[in-house]
Amino acid sequence: MSTATPIPNLQEIKKHKTIQLFRQKKEHGEPISMLTGYDYPTALMLDQAGIDAILVGDSLGMVVLGYENTMPVKMEEMLHHCRAVARAASSALLIGDMPFMSYQVSVEDAVRNAGRFLQEAGMHAVKLEGGSERLDAIRAIISAGIPVMGHLGLTPQYIHALGGFQPQGRTTATARRIFEDALLLEESGCFSLVLESVPARLAELISKRISIPTIGIGAGAGCDGQVLVVNDMLGLFDRFTPRFVKKYADLHGEMQRAFGEYIKDVLERRFPAQEHTVEMPEEQWQALLGEIAADKYK
Ligand code: KIV
Repeated sequence: MSTATPIPNLQEIKKHKTIQLFRQKKEHGEPISMLTGYDYPTALMLDQAGIDAILVGDSLGMVVLGYENTMPVKMEEMLHHCRAVARAASSALLIGDMPFMSYQVSVEDAVRNAGRFLQEAGMHAVKLEGGSERLDAIRAIISAGIPVMGHLGLTPQYIHALGGFQPQGRTTATARRIFEDALLLEESGCFSLVLESVPARLAELISKRISIPTIGIGAGAGCDGQVLVVNDMLGLFDRFTPRFVKKYADLHGEMQRAFGEYIKDVLERRFPAQEHTVEMPEEQWQALLGEIAADKYK
């Protein structure tokens, strides 16, 4: 009997894209593709399709968990979904979104919670919202060896301060603030920056000015990459779709059709048909009938 150490299954060795690839893509003028993902089957498909990065966004609070906004999302909920995505993906860079109150209270909290995304949930980087007010937390997380993606413009964790889900940076003063924050995030060591719902001209100006890649959502074609919420682009989430979303499918319609057809099939006894049915060998069946007929169960 052989006692040799088993050779690892090469298919199980994962080779993920890196934050260095993000930088190289920007340098070569190659767009970066990113989508959100929250579960195992979707992450498998995103990965197989060749996506550069999967963001496990706190948008999952709205599109998966049914909260009104992203505010109620907890660390444990984020980690649960991150783990499912990490089990599926073997190529994409995986980014975990830090939920509300996981990095705002103290720098220590921020580092500890950021670390959990890598240590307990298989992520490679974290994303957090905010500009100058978050620099201490960002620097501390990065100094712990955890890559950080910034997020400016329409930052959903600030919606009560911003007055709702509105485009940002449409006045000189607010655009200047976003521009200055972008410079600060670059300087503090963020590897990349999401720009959400800001004027395309502002996003392009920032993208040309900073060396780290910008990833736009509702920020025009001048960004270095693009991201969408996967449920929006698949037409799965029909409660509300922002204007900047391009729908690549109507899965809501398709699922409603499938559910309706299934219910009708069950009601009209068309399902299950012969091919969906388990059978047993005739002699076994006859033996059972014989036993029952012999009154064994009286
Ligand atoms: O939570 C999220 O999905 C996001 C993206 C919209 C960038 O922050």
